[in-house]
Amino acid sequence: MRPVKIRVENVSKVFGRDPAGALAKVRAGMDKGQLKAETDHVLGLHDVTLDIRAGETFVIMGLSGSGKSTLIRHFNRLIEPTGGRILFDGDDILKYDAARLQAFRRRKVAMVFQRFALLPHRTVAENVAYGLFLDGVPRAEALRRAGEQIALVGLSGFEGSYPAQLSGGMQQRVGLARALATDAEVLLMDEAFSALDPLIRHDMQVQLKELQARLGKTIVFITHDLDEALMLGDHIAILKDGTLRQVGTGAEILARPADDYVARFVRDVNRSRILLCGAFADAGLSTAPDAPVIGAEATLEAAFAAFAGGAPVVAVRDGDGRIAGALTPQRVMEALARGQG
Ligand SMILES: Nc1ncnc2c1ncn2[C@@H]1O[C@H](COP(=O)(O)OP(=O)(O)OP(=O)(O)O)[C@@H](O)[C@H]1O
Ligand SMILES: [Mg+2]
Repeated sequence: MRPVKIRVENVSKVFGRDPAGALAKVRAGMDKGQLKAETDHVLGLHDVTLDIRAGETFVIMGLSGSGKSTLIRHFNRLIEPTGGRILFDGDDILKYDAARLQAFRRRKVAMVFQRFALLPHRTVAENVAYGLFLDGVPRAEALRRAGEQIALVGLSGFEGSYPAQLSGGMQQRVGLARALATDAEVLLMDEAFSALDPLIRHDMQVQLKELQARLGKTIVFITHDLDEALMLGDHIAILKDGTLRQVGTGAEILARPADDYVARFVRDVNRSRILLCGAFADAGLSTAPDAPVIGAEATLEAAFAAFAGGAPVVAVRDGDGRIAGALTPQRVMEALARGQG
């Protein structure tokens, strides 16, 4: 398994005058609503523990106010926890002094914002090179490196344009190129695509996936959009009122939602495109030698296609080439209905 890049260990965050005192009340059983009503403190996060692995895209989901931005801002110490630790490559980043923190923020993590946050009076190239300028990289070298990133996000030819001359999607690409130009190992993306219209947003998702496959960055991605989460996320974490309700692959979460909240969250997704045949194959079901065969990694949607061709049963072959079991239409329907309450 890939090494852990970011470890979040029992992280709690309370906003207010006496966070430690308020946290003690939460630990004694007070919930977010009570804490606000009785002490005027806001519970941002409560006892969140999770691992983000090197090279994965880790998606954070949850309703508005559930603590997503609060969590991601801990990863570059824009926010410090009231309790718990954040380890980056095993290092406790809360122990960094100011100089070390500054170097960490410039070289290890880069943030891509929802509203692009471009400098209006600088060109695309200067915006992308901005972090490098700050880092003291000579101008010509910084612009050369910026040019490479601009090409990566498909904006060659626009180096000399100003942000206002670009569409929203293009501006978002500039923001992405700027984050990539710092060569940071981790990209923090807080609703980075939410302001884009659906078609451009889909293009950006595809492009991010390609970039990640090529560059092997670790990406932490916040979204409200379940389809986006399922498309991008190797793992998805679901927050509610500052607590972590579930973390797993999209298929795991859809197949076995941890609680009603998660189940409601994932209710409307097209499960047939996510759930895999291998997880639902019935090992006790025998198949005729001429039954269609489908891979364990195929989606249930692919099994439906086989049934549509008239087969009553399809055999499911596992990664070693053995027949692991079989699926009937009935079984696939049950798999799709499960967890929907
Ligand atoms: N600086 C702050 N001071 C006080 N309360 C805060 C602060 N920042 C966040 N909060 C509170 O912490 C909780 C979590 O907020 P957060 O911004 O992390 O939510 P979110 O999941 O990112 O929501 P959204 O989807 O709307 O962006 C909310 O109740 C919010 O009001
Ligand atoms: Mg937010």
